[in-house]
Amino acid sequence: MKQSEKTKIGLIGAGNICRVGHGPAITADGRAYVAAISDPDPYNRELFAKKYKVKGVYEDHRAMLEREDLDAVVISSPPWVHARHVEDSAAKGLPILCEKPMATTLENGRAIIEAGKKHNIYILMGHCKRFEPGHQRIRELLMENVLGRIFQISIFWYFFIPNLSEGWLGNVAKKLKKHGFDVDRQFGFWRYSDVRAGGGDFFDHAPHYIDIIRFYGMEIEQVSCETKRCYPDIRPFEDIAVATFKLSNGAIFLYDKNVVRTGWPYGFERGYIYGEKGKLAFKAGHAYQKRGMKVGIYRLPNIPLNLYTSALSPYGTKNTMFYRQMKFFIDKVRDEHTLKNAVDGAWGATPEDSYLTMAWTLASYKSARDGIKITRDNLFKEIEDFQTCQPHDW
Ligand SMILES: NC(=O)c1ccc[n+]([C@@H]2O[C@H](COP(=O)([O-])OP(=O)(O)OC[C@H]3O[C@@H](n4cnc5c(N)ncnc54)[C@H](O)[C@@H]3O)[C@@H](O)[C@H]2O)c1
Repeated sequence: MKQSEKTKIGLIGAGNICRVGHGPAITADGRAYVAAISDPDPYNRELFAKKYKVKGVYEDHRAMLEREDLDAVVISSPPWVHARHVEDSAAKGLPILCEKPMATTLENGRAIIEAGKKHNIYILMGHCKRFEPGHQRIRELLMENVLGRIFQISIFWYFFIPNLSEGWLGNVAKKLKKHGFDVDRQFGFWRYSDVRAGGGDFFDHAPHYIDIIRFYGMEIEQVSCETKRCYPDIRPFEDIAVATFKLSNGAIFLYDKNVVRTGWPYGFERGYIYGEKGKLAFKAGHAYQKRGMKVGIYRLPNIPLNLYTSALSPYGTKNTMFYRQMKFFIDKVRDEHTLKNAVDGAWGATPEDSYLTMAWTLASYKSARDGIKITRDNLFKEIEDFQTCQPHDW
């Protein structure tokens, strides 16, 4: 395909997720290329521009949108600036792939929905796990009713983000920084230190699985949550969050997320679904290393050997969620249909999906702060004036 026929994509924010997810996915797809990027951080900007030989390189997204002749935009800036970036890109009539969490306040979430409607443009929210072949296979199996009634879903997702401000780990971090490797920047540690993030790791990552539960076909009816701060002197938010949700089919959903499990930084992400006819288990590989997810199913005939049967995904483990998400987005932009959907029905997450996901995330924090359960009936009443962009002293 000639370059003149390719879709010209502009990136707003060119950090981690662009280096490991969107950049490689655009290249792998082959129908598009990164025509321009904008990022206020010169290190991230130059690193990306050099690797992908990007011609239009900008500090400010407005200059990029003004001067470049783009076909689409991918927004991968921190969530507190997503709304502004969506509004400015939408005003130029450009289709958008915007990262999750959509925003840190309901007001900004609504601004994103409104911008899409006002300018009549397509917005895909980056709930990329919907494109993970393993989750697509699980959704299919649940739709085929292989487990019968679902009783419980449990997700355990742990990282290891140690205290890098002191001790020998702190010294290593300082030395690395002297040699040009800034751990905070490299791993986007604003998630754990910047009050604008609106919450700790739960705020950043709970949206993935709250969305996946809905993708599996269930709605959330109620949340109850506990959080714990392990390093209150250096981090404004929780390090541990354990939320339990009641689902529309009567099942209980347990989401257990912490960043204090000693081990590899992105160490552990597993899930279990228990139903009356059996159980499903999955082990997610490290997304940044492009490892696929392993899914197993265990029913009555599995009991004698006590082993899961592999539920292989027919969609290919080499097709990572970032590749499939980008394929879907480029399909939308070009009005083509190259992504073979695993299951019928709604596919990519809409701004409305993302808004509901953010609402349940905020409700989880409110539940933890006030020691209350929040239900679907009073969800928006409870969280409308609830602000999380300040240190959480609960
Ligand atoms: N879908 C996923 O699996 C996934 C994975 C990682 C990150 N994310 C999301 O992607 C977003 C970015 O995360 P990251 O890990 O790449 O963080 P990062 O810090 O590595 O990158 C963010 C980049 O945005 C830039 N930026 C800040 N303000 C900006 C502005 N006003 N205009 C343009 N650029 C600006 C920063 O300089 C930085 O280079 C977040 O919303 C995050 O939650 C999603």
